Amino acid sequence: MNIPNDYRPLTGQRAIVTGANTGIGAAVAEALAHAGAKVVINYLSGLDQAETLARRIRGRDGDAIVFEADVSREDQVKAMFRTAVEHWGSVDILVNNAGLQQDAALVDMSLEQWNKVIEVNLTGQFLCAREAAREFLRRGRVPELSRSTGKIICMSSVHDVIPWAGHANYAASKGGVGMLMKTLAQELAVHKIRVNGISPGAIKTPINYEARDTQEEVEALLKLIPYRRIGEPEDVARAAVWLASDESDYVTGATLYVDGGMTLYPGFEGGG
Ligand code: NAI
Ligand code: BGC
Repeated sequence: MNIPNDYRPLTGQRAIVTGANTGIGAAVAEALAHAGAKVVINYLSGLDQAETLARRIRGRDGDAIVFEADVSREDQVKAMFRTAVEHWGSVDILVNNAGLQQDAALVDMSLEQWNKVIEVNLTGQFLCAREAAREFLRRGRVPELSRSTGKIICMSSVHDVIPWAGHANYAASKGGVGMLMKTLAQELAVHKIRVNGISPGAIKTPINYEARDTQEEVEALLKLIPYRRIGEPEDVARAAVWLASDESDYVTGATLYVDGGMTLYPGFEGGG
């Protein structure tokens, strides 16, 4: 990732990134480490990918551990935070990134599909944010490390504002993440804990590979993106580093849309 080697605004801080073995989470974990943070790479499946990433981070003077946990399971989330605290004394940054899609038309959507997506994408963010806030409050502010007591970044989606036919469970979960994020930001600001969201547009990751199988599908997607390129995980990772750092110290309760202008549609004429 193209960040200058001497830009390390997160030096000494400890981060947990959920769903960090692939896609956006992996890029975020790497970028936070590159910015000086120690990183817990959470994964549910894909131990090999998680370990490869951890080795890469350690090979560049960073520090990383891998931890298997299902973010929708309270006991596993608690164990993950306990492990981070045992290793490094505390946690300063949480990136609530883990998420999935289980797409179906409304009339075909099973209760199981509905519940699964809400449990992982929304309840998972609640469980991790709660543990993070508890740890931030236990530790208190450490001004030498950061002006904030702690930072929470919630990965939402452009579908927190753009309805998405055929994806009711996913859009509802991301709409919920948006309001969860704002409410936590309001509630925790008095403790100098900052909570912000990132809403990516179409980013090249495993979550949507099949949507880009053909050239026609790619072209149809590009028509929805005024900036005319599909995003890379690193586009999101750079935003996460900024939100985790003191550079954004006066920013809380905000959502950063990293979407090449996708949320500006409709009203966009194509432009050429
Ligand atoms: P991805 O499929 O590569 O990453 C999702 C990660 O979450 C995977 O590592 C997966 O194993 C993990 N995960 C799923 N269920 C889990 C659970 N119960 N516990 C722990 N980890 C679990 O896809 P991507 O794109 O990197 O997704 C990351 C986040 O970004 C998701 O929240 C997704 O909704 C969001 N997003 C992605 C966009 C895109 O275009 N790729 C756009 C907008 C939002
Ligand atoms: C979804 C992707 C989709 C993007 C833009 C994301 O939330 O996970 O599959 O490409 O939104 O529609």
